[in-house]
Amino acid sequence: MKVLLTGANGFVGSHILDSLRARGIATAALLRPGADRSLVAAGDLEVRTGSIADPRSLDAALEGATHVIHCAGCTKAVRTSEFDAVNATGTRNVVEAVNRTRGRVLRLVHISSLSAGGPARADRPAREEDPPRPVSAYGRSKLAGEEAVRGGCEAEAVVVRPPAVYGPRDRAFLPLFKALGSHLRPLFGGGRMDLSLVFVRDLADAVATCLVHPAAPGKTFYAASPEVTTSGGLAAAIGSRMGAWSVPLPLPVALLWPLCAARDGLARVTGRPGVLSRQKYAELRAPGWACDPGRLRRELGFSCATGLEAGLAETLAWYRREGWL
Ligand SMILES: NC(=O)c1ccc[n+]([C@@H]2O[C@H](COP(=O)([O-])OP(=O)(O)OC[C@H]3O[C@@H](n4cnc5c(N)ncnc54)[C@H](OP(=O)(O)O)[C@@H]3O)[C@@H](O)[C@H]2O)c1
Repeated sequence: MKVLLTGANGFVGSHILDSLRARGIATAALLRPGADRSLVAAGDLEVRTGSIADPRSLDAALEGATHVIHCAGCTKAVRTSEFDAVNATGTRNVVEAVNRTRGRVLRLVHISSLSAGGPARADRPAREEDPPRPVSAYGRSKLAGEEAVRGGCEAEAVVVRPPAVYGPRDRAFLPLFKALGSHLRPLFGGGRMDLSLVFVRDLADAVATCLVHPAAPGKTFYAASPEVTTSGGLAAAIGSRMGAWSVPLPLPVALLWPLCAARDGLARVTGRPGVLSRQKYAELRAPGWACDPGRLRRELGFSCATGLEAGLAETLAWYRREGWL
């Protein structure tokens, strides 16, 4: 077995790489020229230089590969067209390159997102068989990527949909930790938004399971902790883990819109997208992002077992050790 892993230098991809290495699975990483390698342990990393935007580079990168894990993606952007270029067209390019190997690549595991399925409350979490209802440009682009995989991939295909991912090396939840360190407790959606989460190492192990399990092909799996929290519960858990007192900072939907619009304006000037944006607003105003990981447990025997307390403790320890906090 030889895996080509896209997005290997990103937050999620670097943990997938660790999980594959721990299993002794030979892996090559597709990296763009000049990619930041700070999250990947250099060691014996086999690098294939290329881009999912460049089909010819994908053909060269797939040399000798028998499996592909497609984790590269665009999670924040200045313009919505960037989501489509990476998450939809880029994924289509990966699928077509896999097909050009004429059966040498046996399986493609595609990392999608709960955003492709759409929002759901904890009392009726999203399930794989539900009709998809993405609410953001990001979610629609991830759904288009899934459709390229399901509709066009001639190799065995597995789609993994994580909810919000947290853990060591993550920058998306870092501002929340920093706010709590400054004694402010942001409460998105009044603190009542339902949230499924997944600890990044659990996600990486779920992906490694999907790579080899005989019952995985042709299926989509939500990979999430069975524990569902709320935006307020998450902020409180981080605050208590940090041992920091905090005052609540209510962020009702009405206030979020001008905040997101202002952050978008700044992103257009600096060319650097932020965690808040108008497209993100469509996700922040949803009542919940809960999903049911039951299919993964029943059909592949895999559970994302790290509890929120333990996962936050490890994340916080890592942020402190690395000087991110
Ligand atoms: N983080 C989450 O909470 C979350 C939740 C659900 C789903 N996901 C999905 O998980 C995947 C990884 O997300 P992440 O959080 O790890 O994001 P990330 O840290 O921003 O990593 C994104 C990766 O994609 C690569 N990439 C982007 N455009 C590329 C291109 N044209 N060619 C090759 N590589 C390209 C990036 O490479 P460069 O360094 O060269 O830019 C980077 O390695 C994405 O598909 C995302 O949609 C993430």
